[in-house]
Amino acid sequence: MTRVIACSIFKGGTGKTTAAVNLAAALSLLNRRVLLVDLDTQGQAGTHLGHTAVPGVADFIRGQNTLIFGRHNLDLLAGGNDLAGLKMEIARRPFGGEHVIADALRPLHGNYDYIILDTGPGFDSLSIAALFAADEVLAPVKLEPLAVDGLVQFVQQLTNIQHHRDVELRYIVPSALDRRVAQTGEIHEQLLAHFGGLVCDPIRYNVRLSEAAGHGQHIFEYDPGSNGAADFATLTERVLNDE
Ligand SMILES: Nc1ncnc2c1ncn2[C@@H]1O[C@H](COP(=O)(O)OP(=O)(O)OP(=O)(O)O)[C@@H](O)[C@H]1O
Ligand SMILES: [Mg+2]
Repeated sequence: MTRVIACSIFKGGTGKTTAAVNLAAALSLLNRRVLLVDLDTQGQAGTHLGHTAVPGVADFIRGQNTLIFGRHNLDLLAGGNDLAGLKMEIARRPFGGEHVIADALRPLHGNYDYIILDTGPGFDSLSIAALFAADEVLAPVKLEPLAVDGLVQFVQQLTNIQHHRDVELRYIVPSALDRRVAQTGEIHEQLLAHFGGLVCDPIRYNVRLSEAAGHGQHIFEYDPGSNGAADFATLTERVLNDE
């Protein structure tokens, strides 16, 4: 069975792309066949792996084969600007627009153990379509004052989607944890109180993670000895335990 996991939350800059790329990479290194799908007009998941301005999801949906061989066991459907057109197309459809991504990916399921979706910030037709394509959601949150609020709002929207299909919030990942920042501990406690066992071990703040993105590499290529690599290995273990 293919597991489709969306890295999603409507708040921007919480670590969605970092999580999608490095989780996908870690799974591929553990011999899982992985497809990483970038559903963001910013196209940063592709850039993170060194593929910039290449045809991707939007053209794939129009019938072209735009799958990119990213790494061993890791294929990529890139995002980018042309998703803006797709987003409008989905929004204009009188019905069924929310199924566009799910329908496009379904024929690929047999080829992969994991399909990891990176979604853009904001609550729009494309992020909804991503949640209609996913079975599980991994939501990265920064431990900042409004983090729990943002997550509660996201969960409310997810509940609306759950009236239509099975998609489960499975992993909440505190990202860029920095214990020197005031309130971090308190917010972590709030998160645990609200969401209990869904809260995963945090990804610590580690500048190597953002450097890796700038070099077009995942963290296991760029610096396998870093805290970032260690934390993503731990997160990946947790995901694998649920197989
Ligand atoms: N654990 C971390 N340590 C240090 N920097 C991090 C960490 N996680 C993410 N970052 C950096 O924070 C920034 C935002 O992360 P990222 O792009 O993954 O967030 P995002 O949720 O995908 O953003 P957007 O909503 O714009 O798509 C990036 O520059 C990234 O490199
Ligand atoms: Mg992103």
